[in-house]
Amino acid sequence: MTIRISPAEKVDISQIAALEQACFSLPHTKEQLLSELENDVYDLLVAKDGESVLGYAGLSHVLDEGYISNVAVAEHARRKGIADALLEALDALSEKYGLAFISLEVRESNEPAVRLYEKNGYRKTGLIPNYYTLPKESALVMTKTYHRERNLS
Ligand SMILES: CC(C)(COP(=O)(O)OP(=O)(O)OC[C@H]1O[C@@H](n2cnc3c(N)ncnc32)[C@H](O)[C@@H]1OP(=O)(O)O)[C@@H](O)C(=O)NCCC(=O)NCCS
Repeated sequence: MTIRISPAEKVDISQIAALEQACFSLPHTKEQLLSELENDVYDLLVAKDGESVLGYAGLSHVLDEGYISNVAVAEHARRKGIADALLEALDALSEKYGLAFISLEVRESNEPAVRLYEKNGYRKTGLIPNYYTLPKESALVMTKTYHRERNLS
């Protein structure tokens, strides 16, 4: 398996939507994903093996603040480092945009995801009670801070 991380293209949207359906109880629709693709503040990255989309990650940014909307990897391709590679690619985008931090929400019980984010430098910075529905659950807020040299002159 040779994985390549790249910006998503229109041709990838159906496969991303299928992964959303498989992984989340309130999946983004194809239309939402297409509008994200066309939005300048939004980056959608895919991890592909040939033409097959095995994972994706979405990052939006405003000024120096980044926000991860979703990260998912196809069940059969998990535990092979694909999500790690996607988060590394988001670090590169953070550098490109000069972000001060990236934050996200994750279900409190989602241990694989919490571990993934902790491994990649995200720390628990908040708790939002009953944030999720289907099923109802609190969200952990996790944040990765980037310490950059600032030119104040
Ligand atoms: C969470 C998810 C994206 C991880 O993807 P992945 O490609 O399997 O993750 P990786 O192989 O890159 O693993 C990276 C690290 O994440 C953690 N991790 C991943 N899966 C894990 C599991 N099942 N249990 C415990 N830790 C896990 C580990 O720290 C792992 O590092 P290690 O292999 O050195 O121990 C994947 O399980 C998924 O798509 N889940 C459903 C969707 C989801 O919950 N997304 C997050 C929403 S916020």
